[in-house]
Amino acid sequence: MTERYVIAIDQGTTSTRCIVFDRRGQLVSLAQQEHKQYYPKPGWVEHDAAEIWRNVERLGPEALRRAGATIDQVAAIGIANQRETTVLWDRATGNPIGHAVVWQDTRTDTMVGRLEGEPGAEGVRHRSALPLATYFSGPRLRWMLDRHPGLRERAERGEVLFGTMETWLIWNLTGGLHVTDVTNASRTMLLDVHTLDWSPESLEFFGIPRAMLPEVRPSIGVFGTATAAFPGVRIGAALGDQQAALFGQTCFAPGEAKCTYGTGSFLLLNTGAELVRSTHGLLSTVAYQIKGEPAAYALEGSIAITGSLVQWFRDQLELIASAPEIETLARTVTDNGGCYIVPAFSGLYAPYWRSEARGVIVGLTSYITKGHLARAVLEASAWQTREVVDAMNADSGLALKTLRVDGGMTADNLLMQFIADVLDVPVVRPLAAETVSLGAAYGAGLAVGYWPDLEGLRRNWHRAAQWLPTMEPARRETEYGNWQRAVSRTFDWIQ
Ligand code: G3P
Repeated sequence: MTERYVIAIDQGTTSTRCIVFDRRGQLVSLAQQEHKQYYPKPGWVEHDAAEIWRNVERLGPEALRRAGATIDQVAAIGIANQRETTVLWDRATGNPIGHAVVWQDTRTDTMVGRLEGEPGAEGVRHRSALPLATYFSGPRLRWMLDRHPGLRERAERGEVLFGTMETWLIWNLTGGLHVTDVTNASRTMLLDVHTLDWSPESLEFFGIPRAMLPEVRPSIGVFGTATAAFPGVRIGAALGDQQAALFGQTCFAPGEAKCTYGTGSFLLLNTGAELVRSTHGLLSTVAYQIKGEPAAYALEGSIAITGSLVQWFRDQLELIASAPEIETLARTVTDNGGCYIVPAFSGLYAPYWRSEARGVIVGLTSYITKGHLARAVLEASAWQTREVVDAMNADSGLALKTLRVDGGMTADNLLMQFIADVLDVPVVRPLAAETVSLGAAYGAGLAVGYWPDLEGLRRNWHRAAQWLPTMEPARRETEYGNWQRAVSRTFDWIQ
């Protein structure tokens, strides 16, 4: 094969990136653009899907230009995307219908509470291997269909289409192919995770017409050929971004795990061909499926708010001017001064799944400075990780030995050290920091034969940094107890 590159589209919650990779899995060039976040009401979060597509159209050629590459040198495109965000569009015009409703949005919390008690809810939970929560696309889609008069009828006639971001992008890239992949489909609550197809019973439960849903395909395998943005290039892979990071970290074997620190944080443990059901508040999800092979599954600890707490500290409280400054500010003090921040901005996800929870700051005294608050912001990411690791250890019956990390927050040494301390295991970061994009690129490259096999990809993984635990056990457990008491306060504050 003469093509020299694979291109990844990483369509995330706050920005979109197009990244060019070479055969060694090294980043050759990157083009990135943030998109607007719409907060029309408390708890509501929306995106403009048309703006996101325009960004992809612009960033693709830009990334190629920066790489000094031409389109005929690109072997394939891989897509990784923010999961669960729900897009509706008109089949005839291709125009979005309203804004996309983002995974962090909690507008469905009352409806979810009501659905929880309805007959059939247990079946939905079992088939999807997910808790009933505002996080997933199914309840959100139900809300959208209920809200707009006539929409359900149009959807039944196949005039209105649903998709998560990869579906929307593939539709636009190919000029009308309506498909999703198993990883993204597994986040809707509408998929049967064993048959890997839409469940008629779950569709009926949520009142969602089958005609509006995309066809479910394996994550790794040629979806089609682009006619826009990258004309003539095959789309070789689509994966939810957290599953892509698992793949990019080359966690191909059961027992291998990673945690990505982005707007939220997501710890995924590969459980192989076996779907393991959590009894400790984690969810089960499809990790990836290579065309012609059985799917691999994962246990996931989803944390809604980690990096976005730093953003909130920067943009809403204006206590720092840029995200990296939080580490400098946190280092002005030696501990949190007794202050804890639990960022239940979108309720609490794993292991609690309490949509109605709201954030709290506890332990305020006049001693507390902005340095203590900065420390409490960072520590919140670590304590939330501890909660999901404890759940994962309890579910798997095995103690996690080391945590592979990636994502923007891993640049923060204070935080990484604190995570090693509160987990009491080494934390390691690979040389290739862009694991989400890399996972999408790996998938696409495998699909078209640019890379021959998984073993070759493993050889590209190199350790860049490691943090070893140093905290005294007694301090760790006292502070964890404080954190858990702070968490219990988030359930008291229900309006
Ligand atoms: O489930 C939500 C997750 O996919 C979002 O990831 O990195 O775009 O915030 P990120």
